[in-house]
Amino acid sequence: MINIVPAPKKTTFFQREYMYNGETVRTSLDVLLGEEEYILEVTAEDGITIIGGSERAVFYGECTLEQILKQGKNRIRAMKIEDEPKFAYRSFMIDCARHFFSLDELKAIVDTMAKLKFNKFHWHLTDDQGFRMQITSLPKLHQEGSVRSGSHFGRVKLNSKYEGYYTKEQMREMVRFCAERYIDIVPEIDIPGHATAMIHAYPELSCRGRKVPVETKQGIYKNILCAGSDTTYEYLYKILDEMCEVFPGEYFHIGGDEVPKEYWTHCSQCKNLMREYSLENYEQLQALMMNRVADYLERKGKKVICWNDALKGENLKNTFIAERWMDRKKHTLHWANDGRKVIMGDFYHTYFDYPYAMTPLKKVYDFSPYLKGMDIRGKESILGMECCVWTEYISTNAALEYMLFPRACAVAQTAWGYGREDYAYFTQAVKAFHPIFKQNRINAATPKEWNPLPLKRIGGTLKFLNNLR
Ligand code: ACM
Ligand code: ZN
Repeated sequence: MINIVPAPKKTTFFQREYMYNGETVRTSLDVLLGEEEYILEVTAEDGITIIGGSERAVFYGECTLEQILKQGKNRIRAMKIEDEPKFAYRSFMIDCARHFFSLDELKAIVDTMAKLKFNKFHWHLTDDQGFRMQITSLPKLHQEGSVRSGSHFGRVKLNSKYEGYYTKEQMREMVRFCAERYIDIVPEIDIPGHATAMIHAYPELSCRGRKVPVETKQGIYKNILCAGSDTTYEYLYKILDEMCEVFPGEYFHIGGDEVPKEYWTHCSQCKNLMREYSLENYEQLQALMMNRVADYLERKGKKVICWNDALKGENLKNTFIAERWMDRKKHTLHWANDGRKVIMGDFYHTYFDYPYAMTPLKKVYDFSPYLKGMDIRGKESILGMECCVWTEYISTNAALEYMLFPRACAVAQTAWGYGREDYAYFTQAVKAFHPIFKQNRINAATPKEWNPLPLKRIGGTLKFLNNLR
């Protein structure tokens, strides 16, 4: 028995075996195969061949082969694997704003994710607690926006300066590293909320124009970007120009989550814009703002993503791809069935900042990107899936890896799309994947930690919640 994660679409075993002695695997391209489709064949006579619809597809064949070789040593059962993913968008998000992670750490994670056939790395680079990319034309963003006076997350109360940002050269290096593994970076600048670090650097970006400190605690903050001032757009376009120079990928994320509108209601510039466009409420103002920014990015050829919160303004452009993380089911159904493209996630299933006690591996595994009641159009709207790790409570590499792995394997399996009914196969495959974790020095959770028993779940949940106070 060979166990692969994510499970391939179709595997046929034959009687004989092949003795593999490290010779080069023959690979070729076949344009009749899909962009991510490959056929991996092992025969006793001819050894191993991989045929792919593209270089990327061949790479996926090689990833599958690596897992086979890790299990069979050099005796490989003759077999034919015919494989392609169900979903084109298979993504993981890492919040590098609340805590900063080195390039080496991100590389270890990306390399592991690539072997699980993820193809998008959503890089959350800005938030209230830090702005983490170098922007040459607005240098205070990285010089000042990347520094906070302490870290006060739950019981952690550190009063030492915390800082860090990625230079252009480092971000380009990351783009190259990911591209070599067929992963596109989807950069995120979170607007108009979660923007305190930007406002600290340039107070003129906010309605009140006052200097504020970079936040040191978790929260949803009222100080947001002013939607009505030309300065906001002028600055944002400069930032986007520089981000687009660094990140060549097709997709771009502009956030839009958790935006308290109170300061907009007292701002003459915001109110003027509302009047000018005859807007009825502040959700529509957010949508108008995000539409403008999306227009700018679309002119540069980007497909633009927002968190599902931004859909509260019904005037949000229908070219926006919605990343679903927390929404009433009937809303999600409505906009997916209506044809809005969706990247599916869920706070209770694919958010890996919560402990295994709250989000066990099996629970992640059971999450389906198709909701009950989704019609054919709704299902066609699902581009794929994303798992997220927010890092207020995750400050070390070991903790980050532990929270991600192996729960990311479950999302990989669902997003690739096969073998979903066989959890036992999946767990065997994850165990068989452990040498790859080891090779990349990934601190994955051990099998006994994956699915805590009920009492442990309660205890772990209480411990986590207690730590937040
Ligand atoms: C989010 O978790 N605020 C997108
Ligand atoms: Zn304003």
